[in-house]
Amino acid sequence: MALYSEKVMDHFRNPRNVGVIEDADGVGEVGNAKCGDIMKMYLKIEDGVIADVKFETFGCGSAIASSSMATELIKGKPVSEAMNLTNKAVAEALDGLPDYKMHCSVLAEEAIRSALEDYYHRNPDKKPADQPA
Ligand code: FES
Repeated sequence: MALYSEKVMDHFRNPRNVGVIEDADGVGEVGNAKCGDIMKMYLKIEDGVIADVKFETFGCGSAIASSSMATELIKGKPVSEAMNLTNKAVAEALDGLPDYKMHCSVLAEEAIRSALEDYYHRNPDKKPADQPA
């Protein structure tokens, strides 16, 4: 079996939703201290839905593919669904990642959560009661 699935290679070569949202409602940036990779997510939120999402990833191919897939998975979805996106779901949608590359999908989960936390920070009234501070 090839090390990387066709989906990983596709999202690495043709990443979806790359870029910046200048007037984003939430921005999150996370990094992995070990490999030094950095991921930044921008969210545009309208009526509780992820209206638009873009990312910039300075990192490995799996991190780029994970960010790309993660944006596809949350675009057009309710904020609550985006908040619950797991790295496992991202990796599964990519038809798997090698074990030692799973941390790359964790960055995508963390970047989205961080952008949503920024959104709630800016809009405390939108924060669901069950969401930690
Ligand atoms: Fe660190 Fe992929 S090697 S995010």
